[in-house]
Amino acid sequence: MAQKFRSLLDLCRRRGFLYQSAEIYGGLRGAYDYGPLGVELKKNILNSWWRHHVYYRDDVVALDTSILTPHSVLKASGHVDEFTDLLVDCTLTKERFRPDKAPALSTDKNGHIPITAPDKDTALAWAKSIKEQLAPNVKITVEGKRIVLYTTNICQPDKKGENGKIIFEMMDQHQKPLELLYHGYVEPNTNSPFLTDSRPFNLMFKTFLDPIDPIDRVIQTTIDHPNDSKSDIRERVDDALKPSTVYLRPETAQGVFVNFEQVVRTMKTKPPFGIAQVGKSFRNEIRLEHGIFRTPEFEQLELEYFVAPWEAKHYFKYWRKERYNWWLKHACHPENFRQRDHASDEMAHYATCCTDVEYLYPWGWGEVEGVAHRGDYDLTQHIKNTGANFEIAEETQPVSLDPVQESGEGDADLVPTQLPARYVPHVVESSCGLNRAMLAYLCDAFHQVEDGKGKPPRNVLKLDPRLAPIKCAIMPLTGKPEFNPLTQKVAKSLRRKGLFTVVESQKLKIGKRYYRHDEIGTPWCITVDYQSLEDETVTIRDRDTGNQERVHWKKVHQVVGDRLMEGEADDLLE
Ligand code: GAP
Repeated sequence: MAQKFRSLLDLCRRRGFLYQSAEIYGGLRGAYDYGPLGVELKKNILNSWWRHHVYYRDDVVALDTSILTPHSVLKASGHVDEFTDLLVDCTLTKERFRPDKAPALSTDKNGHIPITAPDKDTALAWAKSIKEQLAPNVKITVEGKRIVLYTTNICQPDKKGENGKIIFEMMDQHQKPLELLYHGYVEPNTNSPFLTDSRPFNLMFKTFLDPIDPIDRVIQTTIDHPNDSKSDIRERVDDALKPSTVYLRPETAQGVFVNFEQVVRTMKTKPPFGIAQVGKSFRNEIRLEHGIFRTPEFEQLELEYFVAPWEAKHYFKYWRKERYNWWLKHACHPENFRQRDHASDEMAHYATCCTDVEYLYPWGWGEVEGVAHRGDYDLTQHIKNTGANFEIAEETQPVSLDPVQESGEGDADLVPTQLPARYVPHVVESSCGLNRAMLAYLCDAFHQVEDGKGKPPRNVLKLDPRLAPIKCAIMPLTGKPEFNPLTQKVAKSLRRKGLFTVVESQKLKIGKRYYRHDEIGTPWCITVDYQSLEDETVTIRDRDTGNQERVHWKKVHQVVGDRLMEGEADDLLE
């Protein structure tokens, strides 16, 4: 599986889907650039989302709000105080990690603790640091890049959150055994138990909107108070920076909430209705992982759907189902997508219930989207802090829901017998990560096909044609000029329909050219051959079956267009 994923990453680099950002300068950790084909794939996923959530509906409008967000907005939304992950440092390896994702301690068959260094020299340096600082006089051995810490007992932390402990064996048996607190996790890469206490770490990127470099104010503050303690200096520096502090938004949603009243007023709309927004969000993630799966800069496709409080559960279920179906629509292997309800202790600070859509990546299940019932949390917070009028006057009856039928047992919405004259809407949100979606659909589509004859397997990206970066590749049989006029006519007819079409007139054999396009997921290759010159027909080759059909060149755009819209037409008829 790991080998297959490496082959996919290699394909992405080789064929122009994904590049390391600033690669010629050594790259920037966690930053990626999308190549010509990556841009198209990402745009096609976005377009599908947009079609289904904006164009095919009459209850959703769109918004595009600023990435720079004032402190006041994110203070009110709870992000300044609560958008944190716990952070732990390993005092041996200096790695920083999230304890909630870290593994438990592993021991060898004798109950001792193996620590694996990247190489022999590092193992020797770490052993020295253990002996001199972290666990003096504890019995340890070093063999190659493996260090073993001898223990006499390991007490696991209990369920009430009480810490466990590791009791080490000493070099001198008469010496009092050294004890180390054990919180139930170790540094993930090495199994090191030498850790700091966990502390909250805010994930937002701060920057400063200021014509004068705010660092000058910081320097002045420290010069003016040379005898301050570290925490006093921190407080003064925070005060000095506060007036110009802004954040790169950690989610697009807050831009929607603060514009709620403007949209209602200008679009003359009222719940149930949604506001869609697509754009970049930023998080200073403690751990960047799996290429574009977790990055500091990423794109979100978010829909905030505003409803009357008594309709919120109904719409949570509605969007949960709707969003899952959208993911399945484009999947080759639907069994690798699932929904997972959040436990109460993993919910974001604003959510009352949340369901993730997850994809089975090569390293396991990973979240690609969250559907959350945010209640009236966000609108109420912004009302409290600004006095904004986000209330809706209820003049008519709510849309007729049958709560018992909709909700099954126990958790039906309670429609009040007497409707309130005014209410603050509740929000059901779907928030999809575009970069993760791209990675999931690439993994889902990546096939290695054995053609027999002892040849290595060849790559085929069986992307849903709607997502495929290039829709049609037109291939004149040879480079002779007599094929040009018809080739150009077909290309123009397809381009006029908005279909991304390329002409492949390299000297490669036609079969090789087909294979090159199979590898990047092009669903249709159109060949202009000698027969074409006689009767103006061309062949359309299907990527997945290899079947070819001959049609008049004027019909190509219609055949391709119809096939492309097959799935979409079903959606509209539903
Ligand atoms: N407005 C709600 C919200 O932002 P979230 O679960 O934190 O909810 C939604 O994020 C989606 O954004 C995730 O399901 C994921 O697909 C994507 N996402 C979040 N953090 C990400 C990161 N660091 N890198 C890439 N995608 C990320």
